[in-house]
Amino acid sequence: PRPATVRIVEVGPRDGLQNEKNAIPVETKISLVDRLADTGITCIEAGSFVSPKWTPQMANSSRILEHVLRRPPRSATPITYQWLLPNVKGLENMLEIYEPFASEAGYPTPPGTPEHDNGPALNTSSQDPNAIKSAQSGPDAMTPPKTAPTEISLFTAATETFTKKNTNCTIAESLERFKPIMAKAKSLGIPVRAYISVALGCPYEGPDVNPGAVADLAISLLEMGAYEISVADTTGMGTAPSTDRLLKTLSSAGIENRDLALHFHDTYGQALVNSVVSLEHGIRTFDSAVAGLGGCPFSPGATGNVATEDLVHCFHSLGVDTGIDIQKLARVGEWISDEVGRPNESRAGKAVLAK
Ligand code: HMG
Ligand code: MG
Repeated sequence: PRPATVRIVEVGPRDGLQNEKNAIPVETKISLVDRLADTGITCIEAGSFVSPKWTPQMANSSRILEHVLRRPPRSATPITYQWLLPNVKGLENMLEIYEPFASEAGYPTPPGTPEHDNGPALNTSSQDPNAIKSAQSGPDAMTPPKTAPTEISLFTAATETFTKKNTNCTIAESLERFKPIMAKAKSLGIPVRAYISVALGCPYEGPDVNPGAVADLAISLLEMGAYEISVADTTGMGTAPSTDRLLKTLSSAGIENRDLALHFHDTYGQALVNSVVSLEHGIRTFDSAVAGLGGCPFSPGATGNVATEDLVHCFHSLGVDTGIDIQKLARVGEWISDEVGRPNESRAGKAVLAK
């Protein structure tokens, strides 16, 4: 059942930039986030609160958080900003910035429930329906949100070796780290999504990652309170058949499409094909990076995410609405490629601009 609309999570400012060796000025990152916010994108992963020793490029993410919280919403549709973090230390660093704004804005009543949400994290009796209503978009919106809706993204992985290389712990330990984060986020009404890396191939353990293990991990994360699992093909090793097999395994395990997002890297040029396989399976949320930026520093050789422009072009060709203006997006892709001194990896983006 192909959905009529999809939600795109733009991860360029985080996944796209985190691997860049040269320090990118924070002003450039902020400008990227703001330019993306003007394209119709409704969800942006804008930075991460990880150890600066491990991923130095993300060290100034608190400045970006401060910026998006401080400025008024840019459009009628509030844009949700996601922040990647691995542990309580990361949460504390994020909350140092977030909490003063949240209390000023009258939170911790939840800043809004994403319309895609059905997850257990938000179905709590502590939610104030009026606060949610006021934060919602569309013609029924009563008052615009006072500050940008904020979400957390946690990350673990389907293999032990990758988990160790990326976060210096075992998979089980990563879940233990998440428990206090989930509890605190819930008390503050901050929705949590969770990534499962290397779901379709591991740089250390090879292409045959057990789909059953991905399903078990997804269930644990949903039960802990994640509203959505982003299933990540970190290495780009996924193929149409392996994507299909994984999605069937996840469905058989009782995981609903609405609780899933797919996160494809394009190392082998299969990300679009795998996205269409997922779309036909009924997946409604996709992660991508403008200009195909990026790669994971702990996945040697892996290239960037599927380019948002390519995904948008492909989905529109299938009659699936993304709400994104591809012309505007293509200009952002060209601009940021110039800024970081990389070729623009989006074929559709370049084609749109050449017309
Ligand atoms: P560790 O070295 O084991 O940490 O790293 P630790 O707990 O032993 O602490 C060591 C020091 O780091 C301490 O400072 C801590 O305070 C500090 P010191 O006392 O030495 O001065 N520290 C922190 N500082 C800032 N923020 C923090 C933080 N935590 C500890 N959050 C750790 C463990 C998890 C921190 C580290 O491994 C880490 O940061 N890993 C993240 C690596 C990363 O950024 N990976 C890329 C993102 S994931 C990705 O790209 C995949 C994804 O796109 C999906 C896909 O495609 O697969 C999401
Ligand atoms: Mg990634």
